[in-house]
Amino acid sequence: MELLRTKDELQSWVAHRSNRSRALVPTMGALHQGHASLIDAAVKLVGSGDVLTTIFVNPKQFGPNEDLASYPRRLEADLRLCEKHGSTAVFAPGADHMYEGNSTVSIHESDLSRRWCGASRPGHFDGVCTVVAKLFLLARPNTALFGEKDFQQLAVIQRLTRDLDFPVEIVGCPTVREADGLAMSSRNTYLSEEERAAAPILHQTLRNVANDIYRGNFPSPKAAREAIIERISSETLARIDYVDVVDSDSLEPLDSFDNHLPRLLAAVFFGNIRLIDNVGVPAGIR
Ligand code: PAJ
Repeated sequence: MELLRTKDELQSWVAHRSNRSRALVPTMGALHQGHASLIDAAVKLVGSGDVLTTIFVNPKQFGPNEDLASYPRRLEADLRLCEKHGSTAVFAPGADHMYEGNSTVSIHESDLSRRWCGASRPGHFDGVCTVVAKLFLLARPNTALFGEKDFQQLAVIQRLTRDLDFPVEIVGCPTVREADGLAMSSRNTYLSEEERAAAPILHQTLRNVANDIYRGNFPSPKAAREAIIERISSETLARIDYVDVVDSDSLEPLDSFDNHLPRLLAAVFFGNIRLIDNVGVPAGIR
């Protein structure tokens, strides 16, 4: 496995492997089994081609009061995981390497980004779009893999790729969970013991309500949304940021279930730690 530390190293690696197909797995490091599942899927997808994993804690997608400084960084362990799962190369640029000090151009997606995580984290998706576009231009992959764990991010990146004609196929991969259903996340390690014990209520509630929607037990998306809010609020350590029932493709909030594949989205604080999750209907699939 090759370690590439600069854009020049990445571009010359890409130039020497121009005849091979290439899958890109962008990450911010602190890798866990969720990330590993993307690398595994990429290895399967490219066959004898290359899998390039990127590790970069992207400052442009963190707000001024967010956890950029404390975001976990453990490159050595990350490299071991990448190697074990079959990455051909890892691009891990230094903190100041991706952007010029006076860079002034960014990419703004103005529809899907408005709500939920975009509303709670102003500028977040501009930062995501900008860094992902740069990675696409530098690495020129055929395919790029993203987790459904970040369902809104996946939709925004699909829109970015469509609207700017990036010749990249975007592949979404299912959420990997702990045994008790909590979606794996680098931020789970910050939860106190009590918060960690409370956190599975997020997935349990989304899954149970999704099952009930599937069985026809809710007359409307509004009733389903209210049930989610009520059940999560019964946990005293949980503070809801948002809950919504949306169309899986357009991400528009639903007024009715007719002719829609619903997706339940939620973000919930446990203490200072904000966790997100989402479940499709029928929930048995995930
Ligand atoms: P990061 O949070 O490190 O996640 C990298 C990729 O792993 C994303 O596509 C994310 O959806 C996926 N992922 C995270 N947890 C997962 C889980 N439990 N199951 C399956 N996939 C999971 O998302 C980012 O980084 C950044 O925004 C990035 C796209 C790299 C741009 O900076």
